[in-house]
Amino acid sequence: MQVINKWIEKEPSQNAVTILRDRYFLKDGEGNYLESTWDEVAKRIARHVAAAEVNYTNDIEEIKNAEEHFYQLIKSRIFLPNSPTLFNAGKTMDRQLFKKDIEETTLEDYKTIFDSRTKHNMLSACFVIPMDDSMNAIFDAVKNAALIMKYGGGVGYDFSVLRPKGSSIAGTGGKSSGPISFMHVFNTAASTIEQGGARRAAQMAVLRYDHPDVFDFINSKKDNKGSNVLNYFNISVNIDNPKKFKKMLEEDGDLTLEHPTSSIKKTIKANDLMNKMVENAWKTGDPGMLFLGRHNQYYAMSEHTPVTATNPCGEEPLPPFGSCNLGSIDVAKLVEDIDLGNPNSEDASEFQEIVYWAIRFLDDVIESNIYPLKEIEEISKKQRFIGLGIMGLADALYKKELPYNSEQTRKFMAKLIAELAYFSHVASTELAKERGNFPDFQRSKYPNGFIPFPMLDDEIDEDLKVWNQKIRQHFQGEATKYKRNVQTNTIAPTGSISNLADTSSGIEPNFLLSYVRYMTNKEGDRVPLSYINPILMEKIGTNMTEELKAEIIEKGSIQNIENIPDEIKKIFVTSMDIPPKDHLLAQHVIQSYLDASCSKTINMPKSSTIEDVKAIYLQALELNLKGLTIYRDGSLETQVLTSASKE
Ligand code: CDP
Repeated sequence: MQVINKWIEKEPSQNAVTILRDRYFLKDGEGNYLESTWDEVAKRIARHVAAAEVNYTNDIEEIKNAEEHFYQLIKSRIFLPNSPTLFNAGKTMDRQLFKKDIEETTLEDYKTIFDSRTKHNMLSACFVIPMDDSMNAIFDAVKNAALIMKYGGGVGYDFSVLRPKGSSIAGTGGKSSGPISFMHVFNTAASTIEQGGARRAAQMAVLRYDHPDVFDFINSKKDNKGSNVLNYFNISVNIDNPKKFKKMLEEDGDLTLEHPTSSIKKTIKANDLMNKMVENAWKTGDPGMLFLGRHNQYYAMSEHTPVTATNPCGEEPLPPFGSCNLGSIDVAKLVEDIDLGNPNSEDASEFQEIVYWAIRFLDDVIESNIYPLKEIEEISKKQRFIGLGIMGLADALYKKELPYNSEQTRKFMAKLIAELAYFSHVASTELAKERGNFPDFQRSKYPNGFIPFPMLDDEIDEDLKVWNQKIRQHFQGEATKYKRNVQTNTIAPTGSISNLADTSSGIEPNFLLSYVRYMTNKEGDRVPLSYINPILMEKIGTNMTEELKAEIIEKGSIQNIENIPDEIKKIFVTSMDIPPKDHLLAQHVIQSYLDASCSKTINMPKSSTIEDVKAIYLQALELNLKGLTIYRDGSLETQVLTSASKE
């Protein structure tokens, strides 16, 4: 593939290499590095995952062909799997097996790799762990979550099953302390694991909007300054049916808070609940909203194993014990050579091939993964969740000179994700023909011609019309017989892997166009490294004076810099330059073609009022969203990124 040749020899930046050295290069038991180059990492992952193909073939050339494609995708950083795959593939295995040239690698070697997998080879980022309303079950869930977080996976839970605070406990005659008190137990477990684990532990807590403790839940992170209260949790209120809830708000209706295992019952105004959520989200970003009813509407197994929560960043809805491994294609590396989104372009086949190998890689990860629990292995193999998404959208838009916040750009976004979804599902169907359907296929909605996302109106764009037709044809035709994976598309935040790929993260606009990062040099001194978005640098070209550079670094955005022409300002927008409603509409069009979900933050300026936040919350109830996360600039003291002028 031509576009791969263009990127394969490009070395990762200094920033990416620092991250690799800090977190991704394998080390031995004494902390000595076993790897020192990106090439070694790419080879290790490609070989470990390709070894899963021994389950399907004895043809060594076929396995090598898969390894070679995986290697090229990863080495070029056009496609990267989620961090646990990068950390844990090949870990604790015989190094010699990964050092051999591909020509010398034998079928026995692949089999040895596959057979020597251990609990250290946990490759997935996303899990949902269930709990029952009993001490035993709650503390089992703590233990299960600990095992997952230890190897770098994130966990979501539905706390709604726990009886409200003050309910009777038959066994002790006492009163229950309620779901929020147990969230603190999970939080403490997460903080303890972090000290020995691969990365910061992350969790999602979900509570139904009609649980009697919902106000305590909404208030549970109220005093959060970014690092103290329930800081290993994101929290989301599950509003099962957002349209019904909207109607309740409009009619100023009553809402009964109740729980099947408790006599506690309260009646409140739906508007009081909404106002409290909005007020706290204005203060700290939490809680978000989650629309699990909509998740289930588009999930092919919802009649048997409904999804009950999402992973920590909200992009992956899962049923109890579900797991998903993610991977992301960097579209910024493709846009100059492939006319993405255009169904009539000659190079669509090149994108299709990239998607095919990415899907095959993720499907192989299901086999090469070692699961922390047998229940997780069981459902993961019965339904075969995978999540292929994109990163680099913002940088791709800069290159295409499309402003993130425009109607024309939203059409491009829709076409791009429609193309990704179509090719992903076609790939999953191709794999099913060779490897078999996911075992639950016949019980799923697919045999009835089910389309696992809402799509957008044909009329908005001629090309989109073509994608919509292809999608309908696929799901009413071949997909009624063949599907390897219950879900195929998820857009992750790509918080770490986008740095490794030197691209913008997920589908987010760039938070800043420039910043200063401090690195420790060989002598142990902290040295400032300033970064300016390279596409902007190229665009400004020889007009980039030292003074201008300094001003961009100072401000992080170019909107208030006099010497930059308006055409450039329009294109090179940052998260904070984009009105919140345009963030929301971007999420809406992208979500319209995703069977799982996407990670997206609706950034709002510091000056936004509680009413402004409410308007966004209300609008979100109407669109094709599966959830909502907002962040008002400066509302947490420990914000991850700020421009130099705010430090
Ligand atoms: O870029 P990377 O693969 O490291 O991760 P991401 O795309 O930022 O996050 C994907 C998912 O990984 C999250 O939604 C979590 O489920 C999990 N995660 C985690 O458990 N702990 C973190 N510190 C970051 C992510």
